[in-house]
Amino acid sequence: MLKLKHSMNLAEIRKSVFKDIETARNVKALEQVKGKYVGRQDGALTIILRSLKDMSPAEKKKVGPEANVLREEIEQALDKKLKEFEAVAASRGIDVTMPGKKVAFGHLHPLTLVEQKIREIFRSLNFSVVEGPEVETEYYNFDALNIPANHPARDMWDTFWVAPSQDRKPTTAETRRLLRTHTSPVQVHYMEKHQPPFQIIVPGRCFRYEATDASHEINFHQIEGLMVGPDVQLTHFKYLLTQFFQRLFGAGVEIRFRPSYFPFTEPSFEVDIKLNNKWLEVMGAGMVHPNVFKAVRYNPKQVQGFAFGMGLERLAMIKFGITDIRLFYSGDLRFINQF
Ligand code: DAH
Repeated sequence: MLKLKHSMNLAEIRKSVFKDIETARNVKALEQVKGKYVGRQDGALTIILRSLKDMSPAEKKKVGPEANVLREEIEQALDKKLKEFEAVAASRGIDVTMPGKKVAFGHLHPLTLVEQKIREIFRSLNFSVVEGPEVETEYYNFDALNIPANHPARDMWDTFWVAPSQDRKPTTAETRRLLRTHTSPVQVHYMEKHQPPFQIIVPGRCFRYEATDASHEINFHQIEGLMVGPDVQLTHFKYLLTQFFQRLFGAGVEIRFRPSYFPFTEPSFEVDIKLNNKWLEVMGAGMVHPNVFKAVRYNPKQVQGFAFGMGLERLAMIKFGITDIRLFYSGDLRFINQF
């Protein structure tokens, strides 16, 4: 038998239910009255109706019809009261049955999502996150990174120059300004102010003066990395990268290094990852060139380390299967709302 916390008989229910319905002040209160008497779980009348099956035939014959009639009456009374509330609301121009207005929440841009994930992975590997200026001097963007004036490598970074001031004073690499073409200059800023050992990543926006197409934009983002210490080796880098790419793309990723050239590393290489049976080029890297250490007054005989730079857009495109870099900056909601 069902155990009742508090049971009312039919007479008691009849005595209070109609008064309760009449005095309910709003729809919510009415719902509560409904629950109290005819609620599915433990409405007072529901309990009686449910117990009919356990009664003697004589008792059932007496209680059954009475209970059913009372249920009818209660339902009619509830319905009448609800209609009253609706009529009042309608006279005020409110449709209480209409679904509420949805609040539209904004959400993060796919590039932000991927950048946050990358920051999180590197933080968990004990890297600090550092930032640097978007307007640089020629010195930090090129010279300090072992890219002297007239070096052919400067062609690799088509540059937006900031117009010189009108005073016609002679300019130098220290004063000529440009929009940074890569995040590598932050390596120099950081090393000028800190001593090894350290490990950092540098997310940031970069600019290149070039024609746009599905894989080129005039502004884009890079994540630079730098780890320097008395004995930082390529093996450390390989371990780090394996950890990083597996956490970003899943445990199955393979990694390979290919020889390459950058003025600020020696040796230099490109890093490829293998996803869905295809090799994709994802970053430039290498062991930091002694001339870069000299520029920041480190002794290249006492410290060494690796550096790397990767394009955020490219990683996001791979992660989300996006085929055109220009979509990131199009402001097209059909694209943005997919993330
Ligand atoms: N700065 C390079 C670029 O923009 C990328 C890069 C290559 C960064 C090698 C590095 C590195 O730190 O070691 O193409």
